[in-house]
Amino acid sequence: MANIWQQQPLAAALDLTDYTAKVKNYILEHFEDLPLAYVHSFGCQQNTADTEKIKGLLAQMGYGFTTQLENASLVLYNTCAVRENAEKRVFGTLGALKPYKRQNPKMVVCVCGCMVEQEHVVAKIKKSYQLVDIVFGTHAIKRLPKMLYEHFTHQYHVIDLLDDQQGIAEGLPILREDTIKASVPIMNGCDNFCSYCIVPYVRGREKSRKSEDIVAECRQLIKQGYKEILLLGQNVNSYGKGLEENINFARLLQKVNAIEGDFRIRFMTSHPKDCTYELLDTIAACEKVCNHIHLPVQCGSDRVLKEMNRHYTAGQYLELVRYAKEHIPNVTFTSDIIVGFPGETYEDFLKTIALIKEVRYHLLYTFLYSKRMGTRAALMPDPVEAAEKSRWFNELLQVQDAIGLEINQSYVGKTLRVLIDGPGRTAEGTLCGRCESNIIVECKGSAAYIGQFVDVKITQAFKWALVGDMII
Ligand code: 5AD
Ligand code: SF4
Repeated sequence: MANIWQQQPLAAALDLTDYTAKVKNYILEHFEDLPLAYVHSFGCQQNTADTEKIKGLLAQMGYGFTTQLENASLVLYNTCAVRENAEKRVFGTLGALKPYKRQNPKMVVCVCGCMVEQEHVVAKIKKSYQLVDIVFGTHAIKRLPKMLYEHFTHQYHVIDLLDDQQGIAEGLPILREDTIKASVPIMNGCDNFCSYCIVPYVRGREKSRKSEDIVAECRQLIKQGYKEILLLGQNVNSYGKGLEENINFARLLQKVNAIEGDFRIRFMTSHPKDCTYELLDTIAACEKVCNHIHLPVQCGSDRVLKEMNRHYTAGQYLELVRYAKEHIPNVTFTSDIIVGFPGETYEDFLKTIALIKEVRYHLLYTFLYSKRMGTRAALMPDPVEAAEKSRWFNELLQVQDAIGLEINQSYVGKTLRVLIDGPGRTAEGTLCGRCESNIIVECKGSAAYIGQFVDVKITQAFKWALVGDMII
């Protein structure tokens, strides 16, 4: 195929033609067997949720799915831009795809998601990865049928990075892998512009879904038998901004909590600057909302937090944690930490260590700072050597490992309610699940318990998991 790229014009966003039916017909006319799609998602849960929509659309157009590249007539990678490593992995994966495309030149290769919302990435794909046929951004998912149809009928590469400012498209088919836990995006985008973060540039401005659409989706999922709903957003605590209805995240939680049924509600991610006492009181009052809060602090130094544009101090953060511990029985916390932000000193880093010791998180997601082109932090002087940052990083892991293990050991002898979500990983005949704090729990039991809540008396604690006996 010639390297001609067809950019979608603005009007494409408003085109209401049913391209799903067109692609379906095209497939019936041109493919002898059911065409199979290989779909892989890099990155966060938001990306995974987008991938479920993409798979829903592909299924509607007549695709089946495969995990074998050699069987695929369509390959799609949903990409992540948060850290450089994720981007490198995507380019490595695309390079490794070249022999498959050579073998099957009709294979359609799509790259979508956060990474391709950056000009330099698109330029690199156009120049060096001609095997890519379709490139589309986070707002263009609903137009995938149109892109595919244009690619099939005109044979050119298609690119759609339009943001039609409509927020999350309602009514798209969703093909969920999991039958027990479901993610429900409640908003898209981010307005916070933390100085290290690329997300606001690649996912655009924050847009909330109407609460009635969210509640209807949750109600439907509970009716289908789902036992856990994860409400998703870059900053769920600012949910509702810009909507006509008078709503905030606390009130949304109350609405989802009011849906009848035996299920759990989780949510992520919470930004501390928008975490209110009203929200913490609501978490305490809603029996279905888990007593676990993922509250990324990023750093314990006020000076660095200011440079990060986080809009809170370590003291304010600790005050929220204190209030939550007082008002939410058995509340647990997890957090994201960035080590080695530009200009961070060892003294700043020690403040992070002190904060971690005070909060006592049961799990931390720790990241070495990764420079993202276009962000404010990318322009800041960054004098500390990578090797030094790695030493701090390892020091942090050691401190956290000890705290995590101590917290897990405190569960020994206690009985926890566990949602069993699959077979255990350690031995035959074991089951795996999560307690309310989202800690992995393993116990013996028959596969018939998968998808059910059971009580487990904890007998052993490890760094990553608890082990116990199911109480029947
Ligand atoms: N470098 C390292 N970590 C980052 N995160 C976001 N941007 C960067 C970056 N440039 C981390 C933050 C955020 C999590 C999702 O990813 O900790 O909370
Ligand atoms: Fe990135 Fe900050 Fe938005 Fe989270 S809140 S997505 S870290 S800009």
